[in-house]
Amino acid sequence: MSITILGIESSCDDTSAAVIRDGVMLSNVIASQAVHEAFGGVVPELASRAHQQNIIPVVSEAIRRASIDKRELDALAFTRGPGLMGSLLVGTSFAKGFATALDIPLIDVNHLQAHVMAHFIKVDADDNNQPAFPFICLLVSGGNSQIIRVDSYKDMTVIGQTIDDAAGEAFDKCAKVMDLGYPGGPVVDRLAKEGDARAFTFSKPHIPGYDYSFSGLKTSFLYLLRDELKKNPDFVEQRKCDLCASLQSTIVDILMDKLRRAVKDTGINRVAVAGGVSANSAVRAAFEDHAARYGWQIFLPRFSFTTDNAAMVAITGYYKYIDKDFCSLDLPPFARVEL
Ligand code: KG4
Repeated sequence: MSITILGIESSCDDTSAAVIRDGVMLSNVIASQAVHEAFGGVVPELASRAHQQNIIPVVSEAIRRASIDKRELDALAFTRGPGLMGSLLVGTSFAKGFATALDIPLIDVNHLQAHVMAHFIKVDADDNNQPAFPFICLLVSGGNSQIIRVDSYKDMTVIGQTIDDAAGEAFDKCAKVMDLGYPGGPVVDRLAKEGDARAFTFSKPHIPGYDYSFSGLKTSFLYLLRDELKKNPDFVEQRKCDLCASLQSTIVDILMDKLRRAVKDTGINRVAVAGGVSANSAVRAAFEDHAARYGWQIFLPRFSFTTDNAAMVAITGYYKYIDKDFCSLDLPPFARVEL
């Protein structure tokens, strides 16, 4: 008998719903919120209002595109956290109401676990490129930079994480001081293609273990701009491609240094990357390079599964459903929650 799961994601500024049947994605609808662009970052109150407006049309569209009837759903999986409380409340409340109306079980999903689980979404029945356990996953997004040892879908151990900013934050904050818009990561990626990665040198952190730090890089970037702008007010405009290329290559070096160490020490050479920053072309190139140089078996997610999406929530829900790992209706969302 087949298992059909509806996933709902509303942790930050993307309202998304997806249907997965037996591990195969039938639909994945994402409504992004352009309203934040004018503010240079996500405004929590505006995010929750936009979720409120989007959630019903997005869920209806996901069910329509999956060509199923809502009564065919076996369970409903939703992101419980971490994320913005107001945003999470919209998805959580909707999920509870809809599951109650359909009289189906409810499954709470950890957003970070879901990013890792994106690697298990099959886009068709013949899609067999899922990592075997154990593997190492670099999770890099706007809010997280973690190295995770994955022993099973429910047994994940964070072995390294950022002690301050996340890698995506470093991209976004440096892009902001160059006035490149929000989110800055994709713009930096695009401009870096035209620039020289060795044009500028920024500080790299010296911290023990597998932990990351990006705040020093951000400060070093800011100081360079401040000093150069005093000499030449057009500095950023004239050198933005070189600035982006140098910034991006420093971020990628920092990420790969610790990841290489973790892979070497654990002896696990199956290595995946997940989260918004995994869309970055230099991150992907570095993974390809490490595969060739060190024999890593690498897993790069499809672009549509790098940023927040409900297919990753639905696939996590699918595996939890198999284990009958359901939650109760009185479960509150969590703004901060560990993996
Ligand atoms: O996973 P995600 O959608 O949201 C969080 O859960 O944080 O990640 C968003 C982050 C943003 O910081 C964005 O700038 C970054 O991912 N990002 C990129 C690229 N695409 C998205 N960073 C660098 N290069 C990209 N191509």
